[in-house]
Amino acid sequence: MSRYLWRDEYAMGDAEVDAQHRKLFALLDQLYEAVCVGEGQDAVGGVLEELLAYTREHFHQEEVVMREIQYPGLEQHQREHEKLMAEVRHQLETFRRGERIVSIELLEFMNNWLGNHILKSDRLVSDFISGRG
Ligand SMILES: [Fe+2]
Ligand SMILES: [Fe+2]
Repeated sequence: MSRYLWRDEYAMGDAEVDAQHRKLFALLDQLYEAVCVGEGQDAVGGVLEELLAYTREHFHQEEVVMREIQYPGLEQHQREHEKLMAEVRHQLETFRRGERIVSIELLEFMNNWLGNHILKSDRLVSDFISGRG
């Protein structure tokens, strides 16, 4: 059963951004499944790596757009992205060293973080874009 889902309230009105956000939650959910079903550490690590890589790609694309539109909140938004990336990278490293398993707490943290970031920070960007109309 799916636990982490994209919600209607996350809609940004940009099909590409929405598709990327949907994929982030789908990957998070895949990770949840892998952890719950008790798949091997390699499988869990693989999904975590995929999630990290896709998150990096998504953040990068958002930053390119923000630069293009000369978004005034670019630096702060970028700092938020970097903070999450640092956290997930750290989790992946400790996981790879065998010091930690991927926990529901990490999934909850990422789910909450992504949801809040989309609702607050990504929304500000989309408002800025529609305001330029
Ligand atoms: Fe985003
Ligand atoms: Fe963002």
